[in-house]
Amino acid sequence: MSYSGRCVVGSVILMLLVGIGAGIAIGYFLIPGKDDDSSDKTTVAPSGGSSAVKGYQEECEEQVKLAGTCEPPLPRYYIATRKSGNLTVDGRLNDDAWNNVPWTDDFVDIRGAPPMYPAPNKETRVKVIYDDTHIYVATRLTEDHVWATYTVKDSRVYQENAFEIFFDVDNSMSWYKEYEINALGTTWDLALSRAYMDGGDFTNWEGIGEKGVYTDGGVNNISNPSTFWSTEVSFPFTALNENTTRTHHTPRDGEVWFTIFARPEYQTQANQSTGQYEQVPGSDASWWSWSPIGAVNLHLPSKWGLLYFANQTTETMDDNQFRMAFPDWNVYYGLFHVFDVLQEFKAARGMFVSDEKLIHFDPFIANCYTGFEVKLTIEGFTANMAATSNPGRVGYIDQNRRVWFHQGK
Ligand SMILES: *[C@@H]1O[C@H](CO)[C@@H](O)[C@H](O)[C@H]1NC(C)=O
Ligand SMILES: *[C@@H]1O[C@H](CO)[C@@H](O)[C@H](O)[C@H]1NC(C)=O
Ligand SMILES: *[C@@H]1O[C@H](CO)[C@@H](O)[C@H](O)[C@H]1NC(C)=O
Ligand SMILES: *[C@@H]1O[C@H](CO)[C@@H](O)[C@H](O)[C@H]1NC(C)=O
Ligand SMILES: *[C@@H]1O[C@H](CO)[C@@H](O)[C@H](O)[C@H]1NC(C)=O
Repeated sequence: MSYSGRCVVGSVILMLLVGIGAGIAIGYFLIPGKDDDSSDKTTVAPSGGSSAVKGYQEECEEQVKLAGTCEPPLPRYYIATRKSGNLTVDGRLNDDAWNNVPWTDDFVDIRGAPPMYPAPNKETRVKVIYDDTHIYVATRLTEDHVWATYTVKDSRVYQENAFEIFFDVDNSMSWYKEYEINALGTTWDLALSRAYMDGGDFTNWEGIGEKGVYTDGGVNNISNPSTFWSTEVSFPFTALNENTTRTHHTPRDGEVWFTIFARPEYQTQANQSTGQYEQVPGSDASWWSWSPIGAVNLHLPSKWGLLYFANQTTETMDDNQFRMAFPDWNVYYGLFHVFDVLQEFKAARGMFVSDEKLIHFDPFIANCYTGFEVKLTIEGFTANMAATSNPGRVGYIDQNRRVWFHQGK
């Protein structure tokens, strides 16, 4: 089989779809959110379609390479270690427990890391540790205008400057948990049955253990400037498990969760008459995230980063070690590709199809997986495949992006 041939066929189809307009090329990511209110559902990706075409040559080369190596690109990953030392959850990150715990990399533009999109002009970093019963997250956000006004729990905190965490604790892309906090300590915690843009609804979730916020200046006070704000939060594993297939508490050594951390940041200004910071009227948020998602949309769990749990107080890993420790990543990557292609086809043509004469998967699918099948169902589809390196472990995905695994078929 000629990869470049497949790649060219794919490119013609892609151009056609771009021609149809409405950003259908990477269409499924760009479908506008539903009209009712949810967290940060904004799905703007203004230059998405044209940049997809511009980068096509490059993408083709990457496809050929991927089909050869069968090593899909990794999202960002972080190693959460065992809590060692005391911790008071007050927002100050001065506890023993955080000593010697490494920071994540600085956040990037949610649409893409440099050089595709410029780096954010304020730094955001996170640390994660855990004990038998809880996970703990510390965050430091550089900020010279600490601004927040919402004080009522479960307000739409993302409509102002905030920090957000999403966890998918059983890697099923369903019943993921979302948490948002602002500099006044106001939170919104919720659960989503499936990705919001796949039609998921959000439900009330009471998942927070303890939380705290600290800033070295005042909140909203232009006479008491700051340089940063920081937060700490704990979540009990029992709460994170709610409605998922995960039933144990303490993470297993080597467990991995799809996870994203994010920061909506609005333009703010000092108002001399009120003495407070305020949003620049009409300004939109910049969205910054730990791992880039590729669209202004946090509700794409398949594009999140990966949180790895090590049953040690220190642990480091390089990419190769991480791939060995989480071999399922290859299967996820293939399943997500098939999901995206089927959804793009449906967005353009109104239906799912399984006939490979009509639909073109990237060549790495044929080359790197075994037992690949797409079956149409009454609700949509089920696709399944295993990595050729581990044919016994079969991954499945359906039209709701839900993923599950079986040992053997
Ligand atoms: C942690 O706190 C406990 C109770 O306050 C104290 O007995 C213990 O010595 C502290 N441990 C460390 C490592 O500071
Ligand atoms: C769990 O699922 C049930 C049934 O769909 C729903 O009523 C409940 O709100 C969910 N719980 C959480 C924490 O989302
Ligand atoms: C704002 O900060 C100034 C300087 O620290 C302080 O004197 C003042 O009380 C603060 N105002 C409010 C409303 O907290
Ligand atoms: C973590 O390591 C300790 C010490 O080796 C061991 O007792 C414990 O069972 C391990 N826990 C998990 C969840 O692997
Ligand atoms: C400052 O606050 C006042 C009172 O809320 C408001 O009328 C005014 O538009 C605000 N903005 C500026 C730039 O003064």
